[in-house]
Amino acid sequence: MKAIICFLSYSGNTEEVAELLQKQLIENDYAVDMYMIGYGLVPDLSVYDKVFLGTFTWDRGSTPDEMKDFVREVGYKPNNVFVFGSGDTQFGGDDLFCGAVDKLVKFFNSDIRGLKIEQSPRGSQEKIVTTWLEGVLKNAKGKNIRPEKSE
Ligand SMILES: Cc1cc2nc3c(=O)[nH]c(=O)nc-3n(C[C@H](O)[C@H](O)[C@H](O)COP(=O)(O)O)c2cc1C
Repeated sequence: MKAIICFLSYSGNTEEVAELLQKQLIENDYAVDMYMIGYGLVPDLSVYDKVFLGTFTWDRGSTPDEMKDFVREVGYKPNNVFVFGSGDTQFGGDDLFCGAVDKLVKFFNSDIRGLKIEQSPRGSQEKIVTTWLEGVLKNAKGKNIRPEKSE
């Protein structure tokens, strides 16, 4: 099984979540590619069994422009996308906490709720990452079917 983790991170928190997911996916026998959004060519997502998409949130629950550009460049909605992110509840409390995660879950019709981490995942929140990934690996229904290429 192949997975890709595409993530956007300015100060490293989302990247840390991405690295934890990478480690745990490898432990579950996945081959994992990492893609830092904004660096290099946008990968062909249709070759992966699972696509993980990670983002921080800013500007009152907004999705960063680089993430919007990435989604635009991908150009279609894979149905095997799982969204994670880091945020900070001090920016507007629960409503706006990791708002970009909620928006991407909705956009990609992900069948698993998004993973939301407060700042860095190191320490007590590592368990939350592990439990979420277990849920994805057990329960995700999405298969990677690229509609325009499936005939
Ligand atoms: C100007 C600014 C606005 C922010 N707004 C939000 C927000 O609305 N909701 C949220 O959950 N986090 C918000 N954050 C917190 C970041 O999303 C959080 O620090 C995140 O962990 C950064 O991820 P990174 O280290 O991967 O760049 C904001 C941070 C900054 C600097």
